[in-house]
Amino acid sequence: MAKVFILNGPNLNKLGVREPDIYGSLTLAEIEQACVDYGVVHNQEIDFRQTNSESELVEWLQEAADTDLPVILNPAAFTHYSVAVRDAAALVKSTLIEVHISNPLKREEFRHTSLISGIAKGSITGFGVTSYLLALQALASL
Ligand code: DQA
Repeated sequence: MAKVFILNGPNLNKLGVREPDIYGSLTLAEIEQACVDYGVVHNQEIDFRQTNSESELVEWLQEAADTDLPVILNPAAFTHYSVAVRDAAALVKSTLIEVHISNPLKREEFRHTSLISGIAKGSITGFGVTSYLLALQALASL
């Protein structure tokens, strides 16, 4: 089985109750289950994590770099301002795919900047849980 990190940033632990009109009603646990189920069918072992801490996310990205594993990353708010997360993401030698549940480009202007897009293999935004599943599909096809 090919191992894949799926790393999630701040406030994504509140999915389900957080702005459901924007993020939908699924909890992060339900998104994780959908990814694990997809992985079972497509021979991908999912290591799914969430943190509200910038330093923890940096450490996880360094771990992915050190183990040469691919990363599906939803940096959440860190997307828009964290040079530390971007620099750690740039260490990843294997494939890095940026995902977002919503489409930040359809939202407030401060969300239009991504520090991650320029170093990601690609970005998938706006499809809810399907953004994650499309990223897994993209990884499987590489
Ligand atoms: C998000 C979009 C970000 O702008 C926001 O800060 C989030 C979630 C998304 O998945 O749509 O927390 O990354």
